[in-house]
Amino acid sequence: MRKLLAFAFLFFFFWDKTLAQIAPAPPLKVDNITSILEKGGQFTTFIKLLKATQVADQLNNQLSTPDPNDGITVFAPSDNAFSGLKSGTLNSLSDQEKLQLVQFHILPTLMSTSQFQTASNPLRTQAGDVKGGKFPLNVTAEGNQVNVTTGVVNATVENSVFSDRRIAVYQVDKVLLPLEIFGTAPEPAPAPVVPENGGLVSSPKTAVKGADAAGAVSLKFHALAMGFSSFAVFWAILGGF
Ligand SMILES: *[C@@H]1O[C@H](CO)[C@@H](O)[C@H](O)[C@H]1NC(C)=O
Ligand SMILES: *[C@@H]1O[C@H](CO)[C@@H](O)[C@H](O)[C@H]1NC(C)=O
Ligand SMILES: *[C@@H]1O[C@H](CO)[C@@H](O)[C@H](O)[C@H]1NC(C)=O
Ligand SMILES: *[C@@H]1O[C@H](CO)[C@@H](O)[C@H](O)[C@H]1NC(C)=O
Repeated sequence: MRKLLAFAFLFFFFWDKTLAQIAPAPPLKVDNITSILEKGGQFTTFIKLLKATQVADQLNNQLSTPDPNDGITVFAPSDNAFSGLKSGTLNSLSDQEKLQLVQFHILPTLMSTSQFQTASNPLRTQAGDVKGGKFPLNVTAEGNQVNVTTGVVNATVENSVFSDRRIAVYQVDKVLLPLEIFGTAPEPAPAPVVPENGGLVSSPKTAVKGADAAGAVSLKFHALAMGFSSFAVFWAILGGF
């Protein structure tokens, strides 16, 4: 029995592998913002914030509805981006402001890299009320380079972390600080947005754009999809006995 199981598993694994080579990777059914970011590897602070503000749950609910409306775009600041913040920045925020900060990193529409080229600024974020106007950010793109401007911070998209037909996740090199929270006078002086290293040392990642990034995404996606389907098949077999 065990041998049979192992054989069946191997069989399906290789069959799956072969299929995956001829057919495009099947659509990934389980979209989970936390696991997408965990696979990315360098988003521990952002994940914590997503969980603490319960935006992770909200996003996962949105992603699990069978009929997603416009999809979601997430600008995920790396841990590096968070360590570039003036110390105490996060702690100085109220819970409401933390929620707005997180929602400010999320667009209620799915945007591919090419759609950034034609984005009409300003873009509404989830932090803004539905009527628009508040908490907007601007995206400018030229070739493979995509910049995001909040009025307080200019950030660059470093990497495309994940994308499917419902959600696109991009890594940004700065925490996107909304003007509505960090731009007003009586606040503690907004962090002067000078690159801490004087702009001399640019991340090697910055060079990995465009084709490379796209390749990395499809590779990751592929591996993920294969993992899921093998796993599903394995359990289906187990369940059958
Ligand atoms: C998302 O994935 C994490 C682990 O990566 C898991 O703890 C969590 O339960 C998942 N959430 C949903 C809604 O699937
Ligand atoms: C993005 O910002 C960099 C500086 O950070 C600038 O050199 C580049 O021209 C900008 N690109 C676009 C498309 O705005
Ligand atoms: C965003 O773009 C709009 C339209 O081009 C412009 O009016 C606004 O000043 C821009 N805001 C920032 C922060 O760049
Ligand atoms: C962001 O970029 C704009 C235009 O490139 C520039 O005028 C502005 O000073 C920059 N803001 C910061 C905070 O670096």
